[in-house]
Amino acid sequence: MKARDLAKELKNYLLHEEEGFFIAKKPLKKKKAVTVKTEPAAKKTAVKKVMDKATPKVKTVVKDKAAALAELAEQITKCTRCELGKTRIKAVPGEGNINTKLMFIGEGPGFDEDRQGRPFVGRAGQLLDKIIAAMGFKREEVFIANMVKCHPMKEPNNPEKHGNDRAPNQEEIALCRRYIEQQIALISPDFIVALGSVAGRSLIKDVPTFSAIRGKIYDLDLTYATPSKPIKILATFHPAALLRNPAWKKDAWADLKILLTAMGREPNTKNDVKQG
Ligand code: URA
Repeated sequence: MKARDLAKELKNYLLHEEEGFFIAKKPLKKKKAVTVKTEPAAKKTAVKKVMDKATPKVKTVVKDKAAALAELAEQITKCTRCELGKTRIKAVPGEGNINTKLMFIGEGPGFDEDRQGRPFVGRAGQLLDKIIAAMGFKREEVFIANMVKCHPMKEPNNPEKHGNDRAPNQEEIALCRRYIEQQIALISPDFIVALGSVAGRSLIKDVPTFSAIRGKIYDLDLTYATPSKPIKILATFHPAALLRNPAWKKDAWADLKILLTAMGREPNTKNDVKQG
């Protein structure tokens, strides 16, 4: 096969690759023969995939950020990549200001979120609202999402049971990971707060203890997506953990003050989270 034909086939393959929403991290090696299925013409989308001439990678050009996020949310609500997609009531893509500087990422929807399709609307959510206010923001000024988009349950056959929440497992996190990464890359915040061990250890470093990474600022490094600028991330306690252990609130607040300083902001002391 001539080099030009090979390049054409490779381009076709890349442009139709189902998962290739964003740039593949590793340059794709030229294969001897690439079988290309003929597919119907792609419908108009909010993102455009183009070949980067300098490197054999697909570059995603975002034409309309709001539309791209809405398309992604649509994919999330239809997703059945893992078992959670088969037992959820509503998927919870996330919500908030898509042009924010600050994103909060939790673990996964709970009982209330599963019913409302919105993140952090239960008791932990009420505490998160206080945390956000203490940081000097309104809830609608930030973007709130989760590592997994559907409710992990201990007993999926008993969805009405309270106390049925569990942390997502490694497989569920891995299968859902592309969604949060694409949301991060599209929203492109300056800072992320990872709420709890699941988000912290998935997005920062998979270390045995959460305390090894909590309260420190890291440069975010994603697997599937390539944000257009560097993003800083800090992990602190999950609000649900703070409800169980109110003594940890002062440590959480100390963590968040580190982030606020990095953001060049003053904490709202009138609304201090320690009181919440
Ligand atoms: N806990 C989470 O991690 N996320 C939610 O949306 C609600 C509770």
